[in-house]
Amino acid sequence: MPDISDEAPFADGKILKHAADGVGVITFNNPDKRNAMSLEMWEGFGEALTALRDDDAVRVVILRGAGGKAFVSGADISQFEKTRHNAAASEEYAKRSAAQRALLADYPKPTIACIQGFCLGGGMQVAMLADIRIAAHGSQFGIPAARLGIAYGYDGLRHLVSLVGPSWARLLMYTGMRIDSAEALRIGLVERVIPDDQLWGETMAIAKTISQNAPLAIKAAKITIAQVLKDESGRDMDAIKAIGLACMDSADFREGRQAFMEKRKPQFQGR
Ligand code: COA
Repeated sequence: MPDISDEAPFADGKILKHAADGVGVITFNNPDKRNAMSLEMWEGFGEALTALRDDDAVRVVILRGAGGKAFVSGADISQFEKTRHNAAASEEYAKRSAAQRALLADYPKPTIACIQGFCLGGGMQVAMLADIRIAAHGSQFGIPAARLGIAYGYDGLRHLVSLVGPSWARLLMYTGMRIDSAEALRIGLVERVIPDDQLWGETMAIAKTISQNAPLAIKAAKITIAQVLKDESGRDMDAIKAIGLACMDSADFREGRQAFMEKRKPQFQGR
Protein backbone atom coordinates (compact mmCIF):
# COMPACT_ATOMS: atom_id res chain seq x y z
CA MET A 1 0.00 0.00 0.00
CA PRO A 2 1.28 3.50 -0.74
CA ASP A 3 2.44 6.06 1.78
CA ILE A 4 -0.58 7.83 3.23
CA SER A 5 1.30 10.87 4.54
CA ASP A 6 0.34 13.10 1.60
CA GLU A 7 -3.38 12.49 1.89
CA ALA A 8 -5.95 15.17 2.75
CA PRO A 9 -7.56 14.50 6.14
CA PHE A 10 -11.24 14.49 7.08
CA ALA A 11 -12.77 13.58 10.45
CA ASP A 12 -9.54 14.37 12.31
CA GLY A 13 -7.50 12.23 9.94
CA LYS A 14 -9.67 9.15 10.39
CA ILE A 15 -10.70 9.52 6.75
CA LEU A 16 -8.01 10.28 4.17
CA LYS A 17 -8.41 11.37 0.59
CA HIS A 18 -5.82 11.16 -2.16
CA ALA A 19 -5.92 11.69 -5.92
CA ALA A 20 -3.28 11.09 -8.59
CA ASP A 21 -3.29 10.04 -12.24
CA GLY A 22 -7.06 9.96 -12.49
CA VAL A 23 -7.47 7.64 -9.49
CA GLY A 24 -9.02 8.87 -6.23
CA VAL A 25 -8.44 6.93 -3.02
CA ILE A 26 -10.40 7.17 0.23
CA THR A 27 -8.82 5.46 3.22
CA PHE A 28 -10.72 4.51 6.40
CA ASN A 29 -8.00 5.30 8.89
CA ASN A 30 -8.82 4.22 12.41
CA PRO A 31 -6.72 1.04 12.57
CA ASP A 32 -6.73 0.83 16.40
CA LYS A 33 -10.45 0.17 16.17
CA ARG A 34 -10.18 -1.90 13.00
CA ASN A 35 -11.51 1.15 11.11
CA ALA A 36 -14.84 1.11 12.95
CA MET A 37 -16.93 4.03 11.70
CA SER A 38 -17.95 6.82 14.07
CA LEU A 39 -20.58 9.32 12.95
CA GLU A 40 -17.79 11.84 12.39
CA MET A 41 -16.10 9.31 10.09
CA TRP A 42 -19.32 8.73 8.15
CA GLU A 43 -19.56 12.48 7.66
CA GLY A 44 -15.88 12.80 6.72
CA PHE A 45 -16.37 9.93 4.29
CA GLY A 46 -19.21 11.90 2.67
CA GLU A 47 -17.02 14.99 2.40
CA ALA A 48 -14.19 13.01 0.80
CA LEU A 49 -16.60 11.37 -1.65
CA THR A 50 -17.99 14.77 -2.58
CA ALA A 51 -14.53 16.27 -3.10
CA LEU A 52 -13.47 13.42 -5.41
CA ARG A 53 -16.81 13.52 -7.21
CA ASP A 54 -16.28 17.20 -7.98
CA ASP A 55 -12.64 16.80 -9.04
CA ASP A 56 -12.75 16.54 -12.82
CA ALA A 57 -9.35 14.89 -12.95
CA VAL A 58 -10.63 11.90 -10.94
CA ARG A 59 -12.20 9.15 -13.03
CA VAL A 60 -12.44 6.27 -10.55
CA VAL A 61 -12.41 6.00 -6.75
CA ILE A 62 -10.91 3.23 -4.61
CA LEU A 63 -12.08 2.69 -1.01
CA ARG A 64 -9.71 0.92 1.36
CA GLY A 65 -8.90 0.45 5.04
CA ALA A 66 -5.63 1.42 6.72
CA GLY A 67 -3.56 -0.93 8.84
CA GLY A 68 -3.93 -4.19 6.92
CA LYS A 69 -6.27 -5.77 9.48
CA ALA A 70 -9.62 -4.39 8.37
CA PHE A 71 -11.48 -2.69 5.58
CA VAL A 72 -14.14 -1.45 8.02
CA SER A 73 -15.25 -3.43 11.09
CA GLY A 74 -18.68 -1.81 11.08
CA ALA A 75 -20.16 1.09 12.95
CA ASP A 76 -18.27 2.19 16.08
CA ILE A 77 -20.15 0.26 18.76
CA SER A 78 -18.67 2.42 21.54
CA GLN A 79 -20.84 5.30 20.26
CA PHE A 80 -24.06 3.30 20.42
CA GLU A 81 -24.82 4.00 24.08
CA LYS A 82 -24.96 7.70 23.29
CA THR A 83 -26.17 7.81 19.70
CA ARG A 84 -28.15 4.65 19.05
CA HIS A 85 -29.60 3.56 22.39
CA ASN A 86 -33.28 3.59 21.36
CA ALA A 87 -35.50 3.89 18.30
CA ALA A 88 -35.55 7.71 18.19
CA ALA A 89 -31.80 8.11 18.64
CA SER A 90 -31.20 5.29 16.23
CA GLU A 91 -33.31 6.93 13.57
CA GLU A 92 -31.30 10.13 13.80
CA TYR A 93 -28.05 8.13 13.68
CA ALA A 94 -29.29 6.12 10.70
CA LYS A 95 -30.34 9.26 8.87
CA ARG A 96 -26.95 10.90 9.30
CA SER A 97 -24.92 7.87 8.27
CA ALA A 98 -27.34 6.86 5.49
CA ALA A 99 -27.00 10.32 3.91
CA GLN A 100 -23.29 9.63 3.37
CA ARG A 101 -23.90 6.15 1.99
CA ALA A 102 -26.49 7.65 -0.38
CA LEU A 103 -23.66 9.67 -1.92
CA LEU A 104 -21.90 6.40 -2.68
CA ALA A 105 -25.09 4.74 -3.93
CA ASP A 106 -25.62 7.57 -6.44
CA TYR A 107 -21.96 8.12 -7.23
CA PRO A 108 -21.44 9.21 -10.82
CA LYS A 109 -17.94 7.68 -11.12
CA PRO A 110 -16.91 4.03 -10.86
CA THR A 111 -15.98 2.86 -7.36
CA ILE A 112 -13.89 -0.10 -6.18
CA ALA A 113 -13.76 -1.51 -2.64
CA CYS A 114 -10.25 -2.85 -1.94
CA ILE A 115 -10.79 -5.18 1.01
CA GLN A 116 -8.11 -6.54 3.32
CA GLY A 117 -8.97 -8.05 6.68
CA PHE A 118 -12.36 -7.67 8.35
CA CYS A 119 -15.28 -6.32 6.37
CA LEU A 120 -18.21 -6.34 8.77
CA GLY A 121 -21.62 -4.76 9.31
CA GLY A 122 -21.54 -1.18 8.03
CA GLY A 123 -18.25 -2.05 6.30
CA MET A 124 -20.15 -4.60 4.23
CA GLN A 125 -22.68 -1.91 3.42
CA VAL A 126 -19.91 0.34 2.08
CA ALA A 127 -18.31 -2.53 0.16
CA MET A 128 -21.63 -3.62 -1.32
CA LEU A 129 -22.39 -0.07 -2.47
CA ALA A 130 -19.13 0.07 -4.41
CA ASP A 131 -19.35 -1.02 -8.04
CA ILE A 132 -16.67 -3.71 -7.69
CA ARG A 133 -15.15 -5.60 -4.73
CA ILE A 134 -11.56 -6.87 -4.84
CA ALA A 135 -10.49 -8.75 -1.71
CA ALA A 136 -7.29 -10.12 -0.22
CA HIS A 137 -7.07 -13.84 0.56
CA GLY A 138 -7.05 -13.13 4.28
CA SER A 139 -10.24 -11.06 4.34
CA GLN A 140 -13.36 -12.00 6.26
CA PHE A 141 -16.94 -10.92 5.78
CA GLY A 142 -20.01 -10.82 7.97
CA ILE A 143 -23.00 -8.87 9.21
CA PRO A 144 -23.26 -9.43 12.99
CA ALA A 145 -26.51 -7.45 13.36
CA ALA A 146 -28.28 -10.41 15.03
CA ARG A 147 -25.51 -10.62 17.65
CA LEU A 148 -26.04 -6.97 18.54
CA GLY A 149 -29.82 -6.77 18.25
CA ILE A 150 -29.96 -4.28 15.41
CA ALA A 151 -31.90 -4.35 12.14
CA TYR A 152 -29.64 -4.03 9.11
CA GLY A 153 -32.17 -2.03 7.09
CA TYR A 154 -33.57 -2.06 3.59
CA ASP A 155 -30.65 -0.60 1.64
CA GLY A 156 -28.04 -2.96 3.03
CA LEU A 157 -30.21 -6.04 2.58
CA ARG A 158 -31.31 -5.07 -0.90
CA HIS A 159 -27.67 -5.08 -1.99
CA LEU A 160 -26.88 -8.26 -0.11
CA VAL A 161 -29.80 -10.11 -1.70
CA SER A 162 -28.93 -8.82 -5.16
CA LEU A 163 -25.33 -10.02 -4.79
CA VAL A 164 -25.70 -13.37 -3.01
CA GLY A 165 -29.40 -14.24 -3.32
CA PRO A 166 -32.02 -14.58 -0.56
CA SER A 167 -30.82 -17.89 0.92
CA TRP A 168 -27.25 -16.83 1.57
CA ALA A 169 -28.54 -13.47 2.79
CA ARG A 170 -30.69 -15.32 5.36
CA LEU A 171 -27.88 -17.63 6.44
CA LEU A 172 -25.52 -14.69 6.94
CA MET A 173 -28.14 -12.56 8.73
CA TYR A 174 -29.69 -15.24 10.97
CA THR A 175 -26.33 -16.58 12.18
CA GLY A 176 -24.16 -13.44 12.08
CA MET A 177 -21.42 -15.81 10.86
CA ARG A 178 -18.18 -14.69 9.26
CA ILE A 179 -17.11 -16.17 5.94
CA ASP A 180 -13.66 -16.21 4.38
CA SER A 181 -12.63 -14.81 1.01
CA ALA A 182 -13.00 -18.13 -0.85
CA GLU A 183 -16.62 -18.46 0.25
CA ALA A 184 -17.26 -14.76 -0.47
CA LEU A 185 -15.95 -15.28 -3.99
CA ARG A 186 -18.04 -18.40 -4.49
CA ILE A 187 -21.30 -16.76 -3.47
CA GLY A 188 -20.70 -13.62 -5.51
CA LEU A 189 -20.03 -11.20 -2.69
CA VAL A 190 -16.64 -10.25 -4.15
CA GLU A 191 -15.45 -10.34 -7.73
CA ARG A 192 -11.81 -11.26 -7.24
CA VAL A 193 -9.54 -12.61 -4.51
CA ILE A 194 -5.84 -11.69 -4.62
CA PRO A 195 -2.86 -12.62 -2.40
CA ASP A 196 -2.59 -10.02 0.37
CA ASP A 197 0.74 -8.60 -0.83
CA GLN A 198 -0.57 -8.12 -4.37
CA LEU A 199 -3.97 -6.67 -3.48
CA TRP A 200 -3.07 -3.01 -3.79
CA GLY A 201 -1.14 -3.40 -7.06
CA GLU A 202 -3.92 -5.43 -8.65
CA THR A 203 -6.62 -3.03 -7.49
CA MET A 204 -4.61 -0.08 -8.76
CA ALA A 205 -4.10 -1.80 -12.13
CA ILE A 206 -7.88 -2.21 -12.52
CA ALA A 207 -8.42 1.42 -11.47
CA LYS A 208 -5.78 2.65 -13.96
CA THR A 209 -7.43 0.68 -16.75
CA ILE A 210 -10.80 2.21 -15.90
CA SER A 211 -9.29 5.70 -15.66
CA GLN A 212 -7.86 5.41 -19.17
CA ASN A 213 -11.11 4.21 -20.77
CA ALA A 214 -13.78 6.54 -22.14
CA PRO A 215 -15.57 8.15 -19.14
CA LEU A 216 -18.91 8.57 -20.92
CA ALA A 217 -18.97 4.94 -22.01
CA ILE A 218 -18.29 3.89 -18.41
CA LYS A 219 -21.00 6.23 -17.20
CA ALA A 220 -23.40 4.68 -19.73
CA ALA A 221 -22.62 1.22 -18.35
CA LYS A 222 -23.01 2.42 -14.76
CA ILE A 223 -26.34 4.15 -15.39
CA THR A 224 -27.73 1.26 -17.44
CA ILE A 225 -26.72 -1.46 -14.96
CA ALA A 226 -28.31 0.56 -12.13
CA GLN A 227 -31.54 0.71 -14.13
CA VAL A 228 -31.41 -3.02 -14.90
CA LEU A 229 -31.40 -3.64 -11.14
CA LYS A 230 -34.65 -1.70 -10.69
CA ASP A 231 -38.13 -3.10 -11.21
CA GLU A 232 -39.10 -2.75 -14.85
CA SER A 233 -41.85 -0.27 -13.96
CA GLY A 234 -39.38 2.03 -12.19
CA ARG A 235 -36.69 2.06 -14.86
CA ASP A 236 -35.63 5.36 -16.37
CA MET A 237 -35.22 4.31 -19.99
CA ASP A 238 -34.87 7.98 -21.01
CA ALA A 239 -31.70 8.28 -18.92
CA ILE A 240 -30.27 5.23 -20.71
CA LYS A 241 -31.17 6.70 -24.06
CA ALA A 242 -29.70 10.11 -23.19
CA ILE A 243 -26.32 8.74 -22.10
CA GLY A 244 -26.26 6.48 -25.18
CA LEU A 245 -26.77 9.48 -27.44
CA ALA A 246 -24.16 11.49 -25.53
CA CYS A 247 -21.64 8.69 -26.15
CA MET A 248 -22.34 8.45 -29.85
CA ASP A 249 -22.03 12.23 -30.26
CA SER A 250 -18.91 12.51 -28.14
CA ALA A 251 -15.42 13.61 -29.14
CA ASP A 252 -14.22 10.53 -27.27
CA PHE A 253 -16.07 8.20 -29.63
CA ARG A 254 -14.35 9.96 -32.53
CA GLU A 255 -11.03 9.62 -30.72
CA GLY A 256 -11.70 5.94 -29.99
CA ARG A 257 -12.39 5.20 -33.66
CA GLN A 258 -9.41 7.20 -34.87
CA ALA A 259 -6.99 5.72 -32.36
CA PHE A 260 -8.06 2.22 -33.36
CA MET A 261 -7.52 2.93 -37.06
CA GLU A 262 -4.17 4.61 -36.36
CA LYS A 263 -3.09 1.75 -34.08
CA ARG A 264 -2.37 4.05 -31.14
CA LYS A 265 -3.64 4.44 -27.58
CA PRO A 266 -6.71 6.72 -27.33
CA GLN A 267 -6.64 9.85 -25.19
CA PHE A 268 -10.13 10.32 -23.76
CA GLN A 269 -11.38 13.63 -22.37
CA GLY A 270 -14.79 12.64 -21.05
CA ARG A 271 -16.73 14.65 -23.62
N1 COA B 1 -16.73 -0.66 17.15
C1 COA B 1 -15.93 -0.19 18.12
N2 COA B 1 -14.73 -0.71 18.42
C2 COA B 1 -14.31 -1.73 17.66
C3 COA B 1 -15.08 -2.28 16.61
C4 COA B 1 -16.34 -1.69 16.38
N3 COA B 1 -17.14 -2.10 15.38
N4 COA B 1 -14.40 -3.30 16.06
C5 COA B 1 -13.24 -3.38 16.73
N5 COA B 1 -13.18 -2.45 17.70
C6 COA B 1 -12.10 -2.21 18.66
C7 COA B 1 -12.10 -3.25 19.76
O1 COA B 1 -13.02 -2.90 20.77
C8 COA B 1 -10.65 -3.18 20.22
O2 COA B 1 -10.51 -2.07 21.07
P1 COA B 1 -9.51 -2.12 22.34
O3 COA B 1 -8.15 -2.27 21.72
O4 COA B 1 -9.75 -0.79 22.99
O5 COA B 1 -9.94 -3.29 23.13
C9 COA B 1 -9.90 -2.91 18.92
O6 COA B 1 -10.87 -2.40 18.01
C10 COA B 1 -9.29 -4.13 18.30
O7 COA B 1 -10.30 -5.12 18.25
P2 COA B 1 -10.06 -6.63 18.71
O8 COA B 1 -11.40 -7.26 18.90
O9 COA B 1 -9.10 -6.67 19.85
O10 COA B 1 -9.32 -7.16 17.40
P3 COA B 1 -9.45 -8.56 16.66
O11 COA B 1 -8.52 -8.44 15.50
O12 COA B 1 -9.30 -9.69 17.59
O13 COA B 1 -10.97 -8.61 16.14
C11 COA B 1 -12.95 -7.78 15.04
C12 COA B 1 -11.42 -7.67 15.22
C13 COA B 1 -13.34 -6.67 14.06
C14 COA B 1 -13.35 -9.13 14.47
C15 COA B 1 -13.67 -7.61 16.39
O14 COA B 1 -13.16 -6.45 17.02
C16 COA B 1 -15.16 -7.44 16.27
O15 COA B 1 -15.88 -8.43 16.22
N6 COA B 1 -15.65 -6.19 16.26
C17 COA B 1 -17.05 -5.88 16.21
C18 COA B 1 -17.58 -6.07 14.82
C19 COA B 1 -19.05 -5.75 14.74
O16 COA B 1 -19.86 -6.23 15.48
N7 COA B 1 -19.39 -4.89 13.75
C20 COA B 1 -20.72 -4.53 13.49
C21 COA B 1 -21.04 -3.24 14.15
S1 COA B 1 -22.67 -2.75 13.67
